[in-house]
Amino acid sequence: MSFKTIEYKYGKIKIIDQSKLPDKLEYLYISNIKDLRQAIRRLSVRGAPALGACAELGVYLGIRDFKGNDYGSFIRKLKKVSGYLASSRPTARNLFWGIERVSNIAFKNKGLSVGTIKALILEEALNIINEDKESCRNIGRYGASLIKNNDGILTICNAGILATCGYGTVLGVLYRAKEKGKIFKVYISETRPLLQGARLSAWELKKKGIDALVICDNTAAALMQQGKVSLVIAGADRVALNGDTANKIGTYNLAILCKYHNIPFYIAAPASTFDLSLRSGKDIIVEEREPKEVSTLLFKREISPKGIKVMNPAFDVTGHRLITAIITDYGIIRSPLDKNIRKILC
Ligand code: MRU
Repeated sequence: MSFKTIEYKYGKIKIIDQSKLPDKLEYLYISNIKDLRQAIRRLSVRGAPALGACAELGVYLGIRDFKGNDYGSFIRKLKKVSGYLASSRPTARNLFWGIERVSNIAFKNKGLSVGTIKALILEEALNIINEDKESCRNIGRYGASLIKNNDGILTICNAGILATCGYGTVLGVLYRAKEKGKIFKVYISETRPLLQGARLSAWELKKKGIDALVICDNTAAALMQQGKVSLVIAGADRVALNGDTANKIGTYNLAILCKYHNIPFYIAAPASTFDLSLRSGKDIIVEEREPKEVSTLLFKREISPKGIKVMNPAFDVTGHRLITAIITDYGIIRSPLDKNIRKILC
C-alpha cells in the first residue's frame, strides 16, 4: 500500500483529503495559508502529528513571498502567520510545537539574510516530517512488544498513517506487530460524530490486510464483558506533564471501561505531543465543534429536529491514573506517569 498523507511538492502542500475517505482517494494541493487553515478546520487533514507537519509547512507558505531583507518586519510577518495557523484548532499540541520549532529557526538566526532564513525554515519543516516518520517507527517497535498472539485490540479514532507523516502511532504498533508475525484481531470504534474509526482506520487496516472489525462506539462495554478485548490502545492530542491525556471524545469512556474490566489501557504518542508546560489535563483546551457534525449524518442527512441544541466537544481528557502506560518514541513510560514522564522526557 503506498500513499503519502503529506508531501511538499512543486511549492505546494499535497495532502489526502481525508473528509472524502473511504469513498474517494483525492488530493488537495495547497499553496496559501487561508486554504490550509480551512483544510485543517474541516478535517481534510487531521490527527496531531499530521497537523504539526501541515502547520510547519504552512509557516513557510505564509512567509515565502515576504519581500525585502528587514529582519524586524520579517519576524512580525512570521508571528502573524503563526498566530493565524495556531488559531485553526486548539487541542493538538503538535500543531503548536511544529510552529514553535520552525519559528525558532528565525529567532536563532538573526544575523542571516531573510532569504537564507526562509530556506532554513523550509529545511526544518521537511526534517520534522522525516523525524515524525522515524518516531512512529519507534513507537511501533516499542508497542508491538505489548501484543500477544490472539489478542483482541480495541482502538478509537484514527491514529494511523493518515494522522501522521507515515506509519502511524497506534496503528503503527499494529503494523509492526503484524510484521513480526503476530496474529490478533482489531476492534475499531466507529468514533462518532465524524467516524474517523469507521472511515479512516477501517480503510487503512483493510489495505494493510489486518483482521479488523468496525463496532459502534457503544459496543465496547459488551465486548469487554465477553472477554474479547485484551487491551485498548488510543492516540493522543496532548499529554500533560502528569500524564493526563486529551484524545478523541470517547477515549475516557474506554479508559473507565478498562478499569472496571481490568484491561490494560495504553496511549501511543510521540514526544512532540507532550506539553510539559501543563501540570495536568485540567489546563488542556478542548475544541468545541459545530453542531451539524452531531445533528446530521456526515452533513448529508439531518437526524435531529431542526433547532435542537447540540454539544460537540471533539476531545476528552483521561486522567493519568487510568492509563497503564504511554508508548512513546523514547520507550514505554509506565505508571506512575506523573513521576516517569519527567524521568524520560524532561
Ligand atoms: O479530530 P481529529 O480527527 O484530529 O482527532 C484525532 C485524534 O484524536 C487522534 O487520536 C490523535 O490526534 C492522535 S493521531 C496520531
